[in-house]
Amino acid sequence: MIVYLNGEWIPAEQARVSVFDRGFVFGDSVYEVIPVYGYKPFRVTAHVRRLEASLIAVGMDPHRLSLDWPIFFRQLADTLPSGDGSMYLQISRGAAPRQHAFPANAPLTVFAYARPQIAESSERLTIGIKAVLLDDIRWSRCDIKSTSLIANVLLVQEALARGADEALLVRDGHVNEGAVSNVFVVRSSRLMTAPRGHNILGGITRDVVLELASLCAIPLDEQAPTRSELLAAEEVLVTSSTREVTAVTKIDARPVGSGSPGPIFWQLYNAFQALKDDVRQGIDR
Ligand code: PDD
Repeated sequence: MIVYLNGEWIPAEQARVSVFDRGFVFGDSVYEVIPVYGYKPFRVTAHVRRLEASLIAVGMDPHRLSLDWPIFFRQLADTLPSGDGSMYLQISRGAAPRQHAFPANAPLTVFAYARPQIAESSERLTIGIKAVLLDDIRWSRCDIKSTSLIANVLLVQEALARGADEALLVRDGHVNEGAVSNVFVVRSSRLMTAPRGHNILGGITRDVVLELASLCAIPLDEQAPTRSELLAAEEVLVTSSTREVTAVTKIDARPVGSGSPGPIFWQLYNAFQALKDDVRQGIDR
């Protein structure tokens, strides 16, 4: 695998980062995950906008980076062995002697690679995934796409230990998002999802689903469902760059609705597949 590190395209085995890198020592870095369909990076402008927002939020000036992002991500997508996959980009505050305060002159560390898509099993698609409800133990700036992911790591591991694939996170009685995804519920045939703000990562797939819902004339409320609204939902969906749109069919061992992916899921799923086909053919929408 060829990776990008600080201006060089090199084999992954040859890539070296200092042990004093603040990404390693403090988790002092931000990241992006961008899907690729048919070698075409998906929604690059939106991902770059979110990356720049994360950089600014943590006090790293995006102008310190001289990369032309659309060209860069096209080059990165071209390193894939086949057309579909995802790209990972991480930018840290660089290597410097350990002290919490920002270093004066450390260049930012920029690391990126692309990897092939790990195909979802057809079972996952037709049966859906299991989730558990867990307390949201994360910090209060979930909108920053930071690599300080220890809380998310613990939450996912707890979900796996309970035989589930995702943790749906409860804060102040509301389900804002998952440990690695945004959450939608369907109630009375209306979609409901938490609004953008500090409680969620503003998912790019979430935005795509909002657009597709509008195209499919599915009514939507940007309001975080309560725990009991989630448990009484007709359907629950999670979205992310790697999971796209996935139905949650069991929560804490109780079936969601009928226990199978429902009609709103299939509508959004089919619309998402059509969108991907367009992207592969170079139709940017
Ligand atoms: N995570 N919320 C959280 C906490 C996430 O970690 C993610 C995605 C999302 C969905 O965002 P998007 O649709 O832009 O992928 C929401 C990525 C995929 C990850 O950490 O690997």
